[in-house]
Amino acid sequence: MTLSTTVTDVQQEHVTIRKFNDRPVSDEMVTSILEAARRGSPTSSNWQAYSVVVVRNPQIKQQLAVVAGGQKHVETCQVFLAFCADIRRIQTACDMHEVELQQTLESTLVATIDAALMGMSVNTAAESFGLGAVMIGGIRNDIEKAAELLGLPKGVYCVYGMCISWPDESQRPPQKPRMQPELIIHYEQYDAADVTAKIEAYDADLASHYDTLDRNQHTAAWSGTIARHLKSPKRPHLRKAIENRGFSLD
Ligand SMILES: Cc1cc2nc3c(=O)[nH]c(=O)nc-3n(C[C@H](O)[C@H](O)[C@H](O)COP(=O)(O)O)c2cc1C
Repeated sequence: MTLSTTVTDVQQEHVTIRKFNDRPVSDEMVTSILEAARRGSPTSSNWQAYSVVVVRNPQIKQQLAVVAGGQKHVETCQVFLAFCADIRRIQTACDMHEVELQQTLESTLVATIDAALMGMSVNTAAESFGLGAVMIGGIRNDIEKAAELLGLPKGVYCVYGMCISWPDESQRPPQKPRMQPELIIHYEQYDAADVTAKIEAYDADLASHYDTLDRNQHTAAWSGTIARHLKSPKRPHLRKAIENRGFSLD
């Protein structure tokens, strides 16, 4: 029995691409990717509580690049996709039946997870065409500005974005090593043994990956980076911004 398929082959080849060439990405290809991803993405209780905004306008991409902290690839990509949690249609359904929508953290999570799943399906579909993609969490630096640029009404917020374009093959990066599978995959019950030694081994593995790229990294390539990132709170404004968009975090 074969233990790989076209899909798993695409997944095994995954690497985030940030350098693109100018070859156009046709509307037909974008539509095919989005429709495959929509069909192929499960959605909690069939809520379909997400929307995608397809952006090609160079001025808007340029401003979205600024929101994302000056990420050049947001500007240079042909197509930027904004994956949004969207409870607006849920609100309309409740209005249609004269029910008051009882929003909780659960409805926010459902919509956010739906958007994330759709984005992942898009990523795989895009890569299956040979396109390169990079997800853009940096868009959450300024949820309100992103909403303004994307014309999002209340009840919709951009969870993350994605650049898709043809890769500049001369600058395709090597795959970044993943952690050891036993750290991530547990059978029957979670293995809660101390993970320090395994993380040290992964630090060394990742450090040699960065060495091949001549990137001057901390020898604790993973744990040191994580610790540095998280010594101050990340995006502390987020709770307020998401609530302002019309979502509940209670
Ligand atoms: C939700 C999400 C948000 C991300 N945001 C960014 C981003 O803003 N900028 C960026 O360059 N890469 C971003 N990435 C890409 C990750 O940095 C990348 O997936 C990770 O370093 C692993 O590398 P790989 O995908 O090549 O294996 C994001 C990935 C995810 C899943």
